[in-house]
Amino acid sequence: MNVLVTGGAGYIGSHTCLELLERDYGVVVIDNLSNSNPKSLDRVQELTGKQLKFYEGDVRDEALLRKIFAENEIGCVIHFAGLKAVGESVAKPWEYYDNNLNSTLMLTKVMKEVGMKNIIFSSSATVYTATNEMPLRETSATGGCTNPYGWTKYMTEQILSGIAFADKAWSVCLLRYFNPIGAHESGRIGEDPRGIPNNLMPYITQVAVGRREKLSVFGNDYETHDGTGVRDYIHVVDLAKGHVAAVEYTVNHPGCEVFNLGTGTGYSVLDMVHTFREVNQVALPYVITDRRPGDIAVCYADPAKSAELLGWKAEKNLADMCRDSWNWQKNNPQGYGE
Ligand code: NAD
Ligand code: WQD
Repeated sequence: MNVLVTGGAGYIGSHTCLELLERDYGVVVIDNLSNSNPKSLDRVQELTGKQLKFYEGDVRDEALLRKIFAENEIGCVIHFAGLKAVGESVAKPWEYYDNNLNSTLMLTKVMKEVGMKNIIFSSSATVYTATNEMPLRETSATGGCTNPYGWTKYMTEQILSGIAFADKAWSVCLLRYFNPIGAHESGRIGEDPRGIPNNLMPYITQVAVGRREKLSVFGNDYETHDGTGVRDYIHVVDLAKGHVAAVEYTVNHPGCEVFNLGTGTGYSVLDMVHTFREVNQVALPYVITDRRPGDIAVCYADPAKSAELLGWKAEKNLADMCRDSWNWQKNNPQGYGE
């Protein structure tokens, strides 16, 4: 079966393309390279010894989508393409709503026309309401998002579940990722953020490699075991394998289903700093600063539904995540850009 992967040149997309190729799926990628480098796809092909098909372009381009569906027999779509920086979304709400919502509307319009109605969507733990008790279950409250990025994920879930409700031929799988970090163990593909990283792990690796002076730990007065924020970090290779499981589930189960993709375990910022130092034997200077506005103290998943229905469970631990993130960064100090 051929899988169309939108945003396949990006961080999670490239790791998923690799896992799909390893399992003998045909892979077709559409990506406008707005936040990625096509070298990621070259390396996926090198690592697997298999070819994929790449279309450079925008998911909002109706003619290009028609061409892709005409030229390839697609059995399932994984829709990663989207803008993802929380802070930037506050400054550029129109761009986020345009990109993230219109891409989904155009994609599903063309899918409907060609009669290919299996789609997996990259949602996020950010759709959960901040006041929920932990762990978060798929039935926990959603909404009350604090930024346009989060609203695009929330709204896209509404759009896709509404489509599946109206037409029973659709099969929609909404995957809510927790905090993806790590890289393929080869160190050949990984996360390559543009500009100053917003997220914890890429910031840590850039400090360790000497591109940034020190890490700012955003607050140490939360109600957690050491006062710093706790999150459910998940290895990107585990996450990618979750998508392969989701493809198999989606093509066999019409309707709309939502799954958490997390480990079920929370670690603090300082847990991460200490593990990173120990596993990699590198210096990692940090200072404690004020809390970052909008952050919550603790967030972690209940991954039981994914285990039960997808037959998927995260296998890698925090040491694996720290080792593989560093292996990628030290072998590619400037990311794909060198
Ligand atoms: P990424 O930026 O590395 O990958 C997204 C890819 O989509 C990029 O290659 C970009 O060039 C492409 N793209 C963006 N808009 C496009 C468009 N209109 N047409 C074609 N290509 C387009 O991000 P990622 O971390 O791999 O995230 C993938 C998806 O998972 C995103 O939808 C993101 O919101 C979601 N997600 C990410 C995280 C995370 O922490 N990384 C967490 C939860 C959800
Ligand atoms: C993790 C922890 C910070 C940076 C974000 C999005 C979410 C999802 C994943 C897409 C927090 C602390 C961070 C730093 C720090 N993305 N931190 N110093 O905020 O849990 O989630 O990415 O859907 O929507 O909001 O991830 O990596 O930014 O932060 O102390 O320089 O690290 O306060 O406790 P977050 P993160």
